[in-house]
Amino acid sequence: MKLTGSHFLSVDQLHHRDDVLKICELAERLEVIVQRKKVSRILEGAILANLFFEPSTRTRLSFGCAFNLLGGAVRDTTGVTTSSISKGESIYDTSRCVSGYADIIVVRHPDAGSVAQFALASKVPVINAGDGIGEHPTQALLDVYTILRERGMNQSDNPLQQLHITMVGDLKHGRTVHSLSKLLSLFGPLHFTFVAPDALQMPSSIEAFLLERNCTVQKTDDLKNAVISADVLYITRIQEERFAEREEFLRYAGQYAIDQAFYDQFCVKKPLLMHPLPRDSRLLAPEINQDLNLHPNLAIFRQSDNGVAIRMALFCLILGVENKVLDKVKEVDWQVGLVK
Ligand code: NCD
Repeated sequence: MKLTGSHFLSVDQLHHRDDVLKICELAERLEVIVQRKKVSRILEGAILANLFFEPSTRTRLSFGCAFNLLGGAVRDTTGVTTSSISKGESIYDTSRCVSGYADIIVVRHPDAGSVAQFALASKVPVINAGDGIGEHPTQALLDVYTILRERGMNQSDNPLQQLHITMVGDLKHGRTVHSLSKLLSLFGPLHFTFVAPDALQMPSSIEAFLLERNCTVQKTDDLKNAVISADVLYITRIQEERFAEREEFLRYAGQYAIDQAFYDQFCVKKPLLMHPLPRDSRLLAPEINQDLNLHPNLAIFRQSDNGVAIRMALFCLILGVENKVLDKVKEVDWQVGLVK
């Protein structure tokens, strides 16, 4: 794995599970900074351009916070209407110009492949924060980091061996599950069960990729049977913005919903409950019901928290400071959190 001075566009750039473990181990060492026990200024003087041409809360903020926590400055743009793309500017021109202002660029864009196109014109490293229905490699890393932390990171050579992961929802349009399943297959052979209506099933190219890596793949639309032997249940939102007609979205919305009663009755192995967020709270039957909010196996907010350390680790590796970052840290002077 060579990340220094490189773009990070796809999980395909990580070839061995040791590459993933190296990033996760660095993230874990950086938790002292995330938890405000130490302050780092290692990226003082560096600028991140954080370009989000699609809606985002967690990904945009956690990239920004990660860079700030390393001492760097962040410049953001959000949305298409407020950027020159709405005046017909090409990806090439935007990329070339922004790369004259910043040391590293994070991009989210609605079209698959567009972030790679953006990278071609950039003079500085570009990180893919989601390209349409393509990939979301940093979400996959934080998801694997979460699974590793929940299961005990240092237990064995391959802590995820024989893991059974059940992915549920809009697997066709969900870029998080595309990246996550490919990344997890480095820990194979694993068992994947994909639960979706036929029209929203996992693309066959990803299924073929997993089979090639000796994983087993089962596709079904029956959630109840699919959860029985799951160790991890990864639930996703029906991607409303990817459908041409709203009626089509409404046909599937709320079809797969998990609440406490369902979990108690059908999730026999008491799996870790994951979701990249956001969950769709407008639905009568949301993907994960609020009645599970305090369940100890609900990892969704821990996933969101873990995104900061993973993104810090990536910045350190890409900007070549991974061996120095913890050398010059200082104590935190302010009150951290609420006084109980
Ligand atoms: C996801 C995304 O944008 O792909 N969210 C995220 O980045 N955490 C999932 C989604 O939008 O459903």
